Amino acid sequence: MSTEKILIIGAGGQIGIELTAKLSEMYGSSNVVASDLKNTKAFPNNPFETLDALDGKALFDIVRKHGITHVYHLAAMLSATGEQHPMFAWKLNMESLFNVLDLAKEKHISKIYWPSSIAVFGPTTPMQNTPQYTVMEPSTIYGISKQAGERWCEWYFKKFNVDVRSLRYPGLIGWKSAPGGGTTDYAVHIFHEALKSGKYECFLSENTALPMMHMEDAIRATIEIMHAPAENIKIRGSYNLAGISFSPKDITAEIKKHIPDFSISYKPDFRQGIADSWPKSINDSEAKKDWGWHEHYDLPKLVENMLVNLKEKVGV
Ligand code: NAD
Ligand code: SER
Repeated sequence: MSTEKILIIGAGGQIGIELTAKLSEMYGSSNVVASDLKNTKAFPNNPFETLDALDGKALFDIVRKHGITHVYHLAAMLSATGEQHPMFAWKLNMESLFNVLDLAKEKHISKIYWPSSIAVFGPTTPMQNTPQYTVMEPSTIYGISKQAGERWCEWYFKKFNVDVRSLRYPGLIGWKSAPGGGTTDYAVHIFHEALKSGKYECFLSENTALPMMHMEDAIRATIEIMHAPAENIKIRGSYNLAGISFSPKDITAEIKKHIPDFSISYKPDFRQGIADSWPKSINDSEAKKDWGWHEHYDLPKLVENMLVNLKEKVGV
């Protein structure tokens, strides 16, 4: 019988769908409560709660109702959409985090997972092999909110001993769920279009290298950091997580090994400016040292896995 009762906020999103499934496998579906603004019917076996993460009272009521111990707080507005709605992105990303941190401060829950992002870095950050501790001057509202969120998480840990854990995810690539409003989303769309039409128009330029990661690795990292002994978690802001660095040109070359006729064209839009402000590769030696992180996917393995699984899923 699991003693952990989990609430996932933003369960219907790209990460939430996969994390809910994985945690349900581990703890049993009845111990993993999925929540989002709307019920997407993606969780037939899990308890589901309609929840606006900005509504602290509703969140508290759900925590009480289900006896929640651990919250995975995924709801946020991502980088590209955040630039279109800056004030609301700030409100959502910050106030919802406070609602969750306060639940732990008041001892209603015992552990929190909250994701940060490579967007905490900015144009003045060293771009290659970006270290854990470095210049951080994010230039998007999303990045500013994640940077501020990291500092708040660390502050709640130091002041109130809130057990909050966090990863700076790179761009995440998976075949089970669709991304929403990010700058790294091209690296998911490209697979769908490669299989559907054999061509793709990319909103980033061909040599724009960014850190990326297969969703399976990201979900495993999330579960590993949440299971690590508290004393091993030396960083209570957020850990760098590296994954694989590649550009649209690199991923195209790898896709062409499977689909020789695949073609790509480039039409950079405002997301180019966001991508240009982010690191090209990340140093995650602190995560490796503190809680034993190690990624499994390289670019050839990621591309093969995406194509095989998506092909089966969409039946092309
Ligand atoms: P997503 O946009 O796919 O999903 C977010 C989910 O939150 C959606 O289902 C949405 O309906 C829900 N949501 C939005 N507003 C809400 C509200 N007020 N109350 C409750 N739910 C609400 O995002 P994702 O890619 O799954 O990202 C999840 C988290 O991981 C975010 O914090 C994001 O910043 C972070 N992250 C994601 C990536 C990535 O590449 N996907 C990379 C770095 C960090
Ligand atoms: N993948 C995310 C985005 O592009 C990074 O946090 O917004």
